[in-house]
Amino acid sequence: MIKIRNLWKKFGKHQVMAGLDLDVKTGETLVILGPSGIGKSVLLKHIIGILKPDEGTIDIDQVRISDLSGADLYQNIHHMGMLFQGGAMFDSMTVEENTAFYLNQHGHLLSKHEIADRVSHALEMVGLAGTHKKMPSELSGGMRKRAALARLIVYRPRIVLYDEPTTGLDPIIAMQINELIVKMQEELKATSIVVTHDMFSALYVGDRLALIRDGKIAHIDEPEPFIQIDDPLIKFLHCSISQDPRTLKEKNHHG
Ligand SMILES: Nc1ncnc2c1ncn2[C@@H]1O[C@H](COP(=O)(O)OP(=O)(O)O)[C@@H](O)[C@H]1O
Ligand SMILES: [Mg+2]
Repeated sequence: MIKIRNLWKKFGKHQVMAGLDLDVKTGETLVILGPSGIGKSVLLKHIIGILKPDEGTIDIDQVRISDLSGADLYQNIHHMGMLFQGGAMFDSMTVEENTAFYLNQHGHLLSKHEIADRVSHALEMVGLAGTHKKMPSELSGGMRKRAALARLIVYRPRIVLYDEPTTGLDPIIAMQINELIVKMQEELKATSIVVTHDMFSALYVGDRLALIRDGKIAHIDEPEPFIQIDDPLIKFLHCSISQDPRTLKEKNHHG
């Protein structure tokens, strides 16, 4: 579904992407791990077409989006949603208006009633039922992040990109976000890419894990073999968690 080949990108003299190859399969949740400043956000921005490669190609469902711009690009990425780092909302709009924003922009096939239904369902799904009339400034950081997620859910994107969805959140809110990412994939059958340096989150949501280093994918594998890889950073990230989150997930999802 998403196929990246030989991606090169530099800013000034700083080579951020250096021949990166990556395939993301339809319906999977791929987690991309790596320390700050390594190019994780830059990679996501290439996938939604905000950034253009210096060299290399990005295909989504056989469409070469790295060659597109303007209306052509928009036509081909409108089924994608991105949860930006910081989970930005429009400060002057209520939660309800924020949540309906993309639907009002592009959902001209939907009636007001259908939009209201979808907004309510999305707010319920993220645990924000009844906050319709609140302003973003009245919400806590965790609630804002969940509201930003509701804005994605209403839109029912086929591809969802999450940029550090749990960074800076307390562990309980982070866990709620992890649950929502799993729920999004289950309910919407979305293909997801989750960028993080939170190993707990990575193992909780990921079907496959990848490590980015020196502008390339250094390792990519399913969780079990991934955590066995003899790499100092993977070992460090793995020992930073005290419990394997997958045991917790078994409990939450199967009884
Ligand atoms: N638009 C830009 N202009 C210049 N430098 C940038 C730009 N975007 C990212 N960078 C640089 O690219 C590197 C990777 O950034 P980023 O992808 O945001 O890292 P992270 O892995 O933390 O998400 C950083 O050194 C950052 O300063
Ligand atoms: Mg980033």
